[in-house]
Amino acid sequence: MSVDGPVLVFDSGIGGLSVLREARVIMPGRRFVYVADDAGFPYGAWDEERLRDRIVGLFEGLIDRHAPALALIACNTASTIVMPALRQAYPEIPFVGTVPAIKPAAERTRSGLVSVLATPGTVKRQYTRDLIRDYADKVHVRLVGSENLAGLAETYMRNGFVDEAAVKAEIDPCFVSQGGEKTDIVVLACTHFPFLVNRMRKMAPWPVDWIDPAEAIARRALSIVETLPGGTALPDEKDRVVFTSGNPDYSAMRLMHGFGLTSG
Ligand code: DGL
Repeated sequence: MSVDGPVLVFDSGIGGLSVLREARVIMPGRRFVYVADDAGFPYGAWDEERLRDRIVGLFEGLIDRHAPALALIACNTASTIVMPALRQAYPEIPFVGTVPAIKPAAERTRSGLVSVLATPGTVKRQYTRDLIRDYADKVHVRLVGSENLAGLAETYMRNGFVDEAAVKAEIDPCFVSQGGEKTDIVVLACTHFPFLVNRMRKMAPWPVDWIDPAEAIARRALSIVETLPGGTALPDEKDRVVFTSGNPDYSAMRLMHGFGLTSG
């Protein structure tokens, strides 16, 4: 680890940008390296063990090359299985993960009906089930595993277009009406989804609170970064993006430039 090193933000694709934009605002003195594992996207259907091995393997090269001060896994599908393995393999690096915001949702719901919208992988995880058991046992939680929303978010962010009927089909199972009550909170448990939240609002059968945990995750990272030396002067190097495919298409590169990231 290098205390003056960058904060490395990792996701399977563009989703982690929703966390990066919050992190940058509250950590202006830090450099960032954004890593999109586009060669592995989408993570939703990966076998757990294979995905864990893949990510732990990728980090060996990433740590060698970028010497991060902290690594932020801005992906629920990955974080719900890989955090202990990453911490064990690279004990010198502080890791911050992203897990479904089930606890705040259970605290805030008035109707007692909460939905968790995630990838199929996150929905299946024992970690997610344990969060519900530990923090939401008095609440009815519906887990909705969406096959297509992460891909729709990628298309939307790269090309500016999304099929609203397709978004509606993916979010519809989140809306539950029972015993005179209706779902009042939907947890966005995939970092890709906040980019589609306006379309989701538009296509929702009734208004709900959409919980986007990006700011909370960025604040958690800040609480660790603040304890490290450095980061007081504004960085003179630009933030970088790494695609694991080594071969991003024009639309992906254009998006990253829009976020102020240069290849490297
Ligand atoms: N952005 C990721 C998450 O938070 C996963 C998207 C995917 O690879 O399907 O779960």
